[in-house]
Amino acid sequence: MKLKTVKLIVVGFGIIGRGFCKVFSEKKKFIEEKFKINLEIAAICEISGCLVNENGIAVEDIEKLAANKIKLEEHQNWTRKDTADVLKEVEAEIAVELTPGNIKTGEPGLTHIITALENGKHVATSNKAPVAIRFNELQELAQKNNLKLNYEAAVGGAIPVINLYRENLQINNINSIYGVLNGTTNYILTKMRRDGITLEAALKEAQELGIAETDPTYDIEGIDTAVKVVILANALMNKNVKFRDVKVVGISGITPEAIDLAKKNGFVIKLIGDVKKLEVSPRIVPKNHPLNVDGTLNAIMLETDVASDITIIGRGAGARETASALFSDVLGIAMELNN
Ligand code: HSE
Repeated sequence: MKLKTVKLIVVGFGIIGRGFCKVFSEKKKFIEEKFKINLEIAAICEISGCLVNENGIAVEDIEKLAANKIKLEEHQNWTRKDTADVLKEVEAEIAVELTPGNIKTGEPGLTHIITALENGKHVATSNKAPVAIRFNELQELAQKNNLKLNYEAAVGGAIPVINLYRENLQINNINSIYGVLNGTTNYILTKMRRDGITLEAALKEAQELGIAETDPTYDIEGIDTAVKVVILANALMNKNVKFRDVKVVGISGITPEAIDLAKKNGFVIKLIGDVKKLEVSPRIVPKNHPLNVDGTLNAIMLETDVASDITIIGRGAGARETASALFSDVLGIAMELNN
């Protein structure tokens, strides 16, 4: 069977971008053999320029770039072109948008996603902010151009919550969704409870693990969870909500004493995103409850009308885990292409 070539433009080369490229270099052959798809990366873009090779950047180079053994700007195909020009000019089927998002503006990802969709490129993104801020507009733009906008990686890291709903729970009404949607705060609360360390010390560890947001107050103050609540409400519960509709309390007020008190009474404190109530707040959860997951894990409970209750647990953050969700979105698009 003939291989189908599908080209990607990767936008953003931080922790998530490198993780995606590392998994790409590991899995390229596997994808060829299993799906008969020759996946190529035609460009990798970041703030200061883009590395472009329309025939596909060599996989050995991608591996070295991902491991930081060579820098993007040291590569022979490095250019000072900006991302928008590359999204317009370079021939590729899918833009993989992986920049960190500003929650107030959704930028720079919002512009990248719009530019890609206006220039005939499907989009797979881990970027929560633009999807949350402009959910309906971006969906409409994608539909108008007969393109896909996939964002499985934006919520719950490796947990396939969006695709579970779309591909397996189609006939269900989702009555409520709530859970632990932020790996960093879950890691912090776990470390405070188990090891008695301070919030600041635990945050530092989470940052070293590469799971915290570029601005970690997004994690601590519940903003990241609220953004995910908005996406889940719009994508899975057919709502039309904005970030400002969510009532948000983070974990900065959680004291070691509160954690100890909960512990003594057989409870743990978790930062819970409640999609039905549009609320993010620390709540006490019984020790043996399915939402009592530790470390960087996320846990999401769906209450549905036909399938009843479903809980999914998995790694909610991390470059490699996020890459798993991104590849599910990329391959979902690639398999439907007729080139
Ligand atoms: N900072 C986020 C978290 C990354 O800790 O969950 C994944 O969305």
